[in-house]
Amino acid sequence: MNKYYHIVTYGCQMNVHESEKIAGILADLGYKSCGSVNSADIVVFNTCCIRENAENHAFGNIGMLKKLKSEKKDMIIAVGGCLPQQMGKAENLHDKFPFVDIIFGTHNLHKLKEYIISKSCTKKPVIHIEDDSGIICEGENPCRTSYPNAWVNITYGCNNFCSYCIVPYVRGRERSRKSENIISEVKGLVAEGYKEITLLGQNVNSYGNGSDEISFAELLRKISAIEGDFRLRFMTSHPKDFSEELAEAIASCDKICKCVHLPVQSGSDRILKAMNRKYTVADYIKKIEILHKYVPDCAVTTDLIVGFPGETEEDFQSTLELVKKVDYSSAFTFVYSRREGTVAAKMAEQIPEEISKNRIMRLVSLVNGLTRKHSCSYVGKTVEILCEGYDEKKDMYLGRDTYGRMGYFKCAENAIGKFINLKVTSANGISLIGEKV
Ligand code: 5AD
Ligand code: SF4
Repeated sequence: MNKYYHIVTYGCQMNVHESEKIAGILADLGYKSCGSVNSADIVVFNTCCIRENAENHAFGNIGMLKKLKSEKKDMIIAVGGCLPQQMGKAENLHDKFPFVDIIFGTHNLHKLKEYIISKSCTKKPVIHIEDDSGIICEGENPCRTSYPNAWVNITYGCNNFCSYCIVPYVRGRERSRKSENIISEVKGLVAEGYKEITLLGQNVNSYGNGSDEISFAELLRKISAIEGDFRLRFMTSHPKDFSEELAEAIASCDKICKCVHLPVQSGSDRILKAMNRKYTVADYIKKIEILHKYVPDCAVTTDLIVGFPGETEEDFQSTLELVKKVDYSSAFTFVYSRREGTVAAKMAEQIPEEISKNRIMRLVSLVNGLTRKHSCSYVGKTVEILCEGYDEKKDMYLGRDTYGRMGYFKCAENAIGKFINLKVTSANGISLIGEKV
């Protein structure tokens, strides 16, 4: 008899890829993917806790399964990832949702198979959270879901302890995979036909730090030298570790996309210091200048936080100024979210919600204006995009160019996984519309 799984993923690309690994484990146990919780024999929530709303969202959706579980007693519900890895949260989840069968953290995802077997045999809930052991799992067999893109981890964890951020507490200390393992994984993916490889880490620029591994720039050069028709992307970069060598590598390797995500968080030196970001606005601008010296047309995107404790209107104005100066191609904007256990959570002067809301609205409006301006500058040009999907509502294919800009087009045959020359006819805010030429 067929058994089905459904995975609900919250959060970043790292989590999206980890859900592919969970899918690999479930496939190994004989489960097949299905599109909804209603027809699933096992539902796995792969959670995020970076901001309070991500956590609330997961709590809400887990709670909604109570009724279904009472009707389908044999259905297994598992909750894993960053949320239960936080101190005390696994117990909290268990108390609130006693119908959840398996709770696991970020450091023991690879043991999910044994937890499922144990639950099926003993019928008892399995609650296992492990501490960071520094182990790197190799030989995983993810069920990849994002063809023609494939995610490849290069580092895990983070050592930066930005004062607002929970990640170092739930993902443990930074550790790098061996370059030979990364290179052989990429070779295999290219041979299988993947056309875009995205290297993943909380801070890819510090790849190999504290070991005798090659530098991140060298890793990029080696991967670029793999034969085949593919693109290379990476995320995320920490500005303090962004090197001239990396800018040089982007310039000299055709396969590396001309798009760097360089989160700045704030445009105020005072706030950057309080955030423990370890650079000033001037240092950051210098890095962008170095990048543009080597790759003049490189697109830069960023992450920004408003309403960090103690942020004044003047600090916020400095952020607006920096955004205009760098002329970001696009940006992710966030309202600061207080995370228990972080240094910033204990800071005085938490900013009232209405002030943060007002600031985020002004920031989003500025960022949207820049994004629109960049999109409009494409009209009339022809760009190469890698088709990565089909939008049913729009009845159009979609894909991104080297700068990360999304373009839509009509096509009679299946274009997914093909490099397409797109003549841009119009721009629609964040994305482009064009014709295949
Ligand atoms: N509140 C708001 N945004 C946060 N980020 C990380 N922690 C928080 C927090 N506590 C944002 C940062 C980071 C991105 C992944 O999420 O901008 O770069
Ligand atoms: Fe969080 Fe800072 Fe590490 Fe990024 S670099 S994951 S923001 S602590």
